[in-house]
Amino acid sequence: MQTKTPIGILGATGIVGQRFVQMLEHHPWFEVAWLAASDRSEGQPYAEAARWRMKTPIPSRVAEMRVSPVKPEAAPKIVFAALDAAIAAEFEPRFAHAGCAVVSNSSALRMQSDVPLVIPEVNPEHIKLLECQTWRRQSGGFVVTNPNCSAIGLVMALAPLEQQFGLETVMAVTMQAVSGAGYPGVPSLDILGNVIPYIAKEEEKMEEETRKVLGQLNGSGIVPGAFGMSAQCNRVAVEDGHTESVSVKLKKKARPEEIIAAWNEFRSAPQELRLPSAPEQPVRYVASADRPQPRFDADCGNGMTATVGRLRPCGVLDWKFTVLSHNTIRGAAGAALLNAELLRVKGYLD
Ligand SMILES: NC(=O)c1ccc[n+]([C@@H]2O[C@H](COP(=O)([O-])OP(=O)(O)OC[C@H]3O[C@@H](n4cnc5c(N)ncnc54)[C@H](OP(=O)(O)O)[C@@H]3O)[C@@H](O)[C@H]2O)c1
Repeated sequence: MQTKTPIGILGATGIVGQRFVQMLEHHPWFEVAWLAASDRSEGQPYAEAARWRMKTPIPSRVAEMRVSPVKPEAAPKIVFAALDAAIAAEFEPRFAHAGCAVVSNSSALRMQSDVPLVIPEVNPEHIKLLECQTWRRQSGGFVVTNPNCSAIGLVMALAPLEQQFGLETVMAVTMQAVSGAGYPGVPSLDILGNVIPYIAKEEEKMEEETRKVLGQLNGSGIVPGAFGMSAQCNRVAVEDGHTESVSVKLKKKARPEEIIAAWNEFRSAPQELRLPSAPEQPVRYVASADRPQPRFDADCGNGMTATVGRLRPCGVLDWKFTVLSHNTIRGAAGAALLNAELLRVKGYLD
């Protein structure tokens, strides 16, 4: 029997950390061997430190593991990172410096010029950027990131359009689930029966990360996508799943059936390489007039498929549509897991 590779999780007790624990329970290649969080949790059994919010039971082997401090000395060589951005900015470089492969969810280093910001279906070639990192040359360690949870769903829908027709302008308005704010996140009295038209730094992240992922690798950097981009972000009283209303102007004329085929037929490296967390269909189009909806569509493809619907002409740009993706799976833990699987088959985790 093949032995699994031990991995650690930074920020293991949070919402994304818990999603990692859940998704790794039956993973064929990786096994949770080490968990780290703040000094609030340090030394406690994981089941006591984490307020478990997943719908499946907490894995018994992990439940008994003691939570470690966020220090690289005792960590495995591969760590998934789900720390708050301010903490990540301090600790992720320390782990990379110590020789760890850091597969991060945090925004702290995403826009650093030598840090790959990767969605394996969209820009797998960008992982070559990590060869430019000083950590990689000095200790073998590196940092790879995935985009923000709202940028991922949007880019999944845009990538097939960019490839086939070219993007000129993109406008997106989000309706983002409360789990995107972590735990305990937004107070219930602020969000119940309400919409909050502000999520700190989210619009900036969507605009710059979307351009970086859809940009071109040029030696030691990325030339960002040249399309115009405007995002408006809202928090809504939904548990899981970010919904986005999108309008696009395309460089080439496209008929609706060509756009729908571009989404439904989109396949890429994770499907060709049969990565364990890759969905069969990364983007699917639903024809029903009132879909996608978070309640019915967020879990599609084990939470790794982005669902698009409501394609129709736009009176200002060319086309408008709705896209939905699971924010803590495709938008966070699943995104990082797929990045790690890609890194492994490309030999970066040896
Ligand atoms: N939620 C999403 O949908 C989503 C999507 C994409 C990206 N992200 C990003 O992923 C990261 C984690 O998000 P989350 O939603 O899981 O947040 P969360 O539920 O608030 O969890 C935060 C984690 O960070 C740990 N932590 C906090 N302060 C620390 C410190 N001083 N030292 C060490 N560890 C500390 C916490 O440990 P304790 O429990 O011990 O306090 C907890 O494990 C953030 O950067 C977020 O922006 C989240």
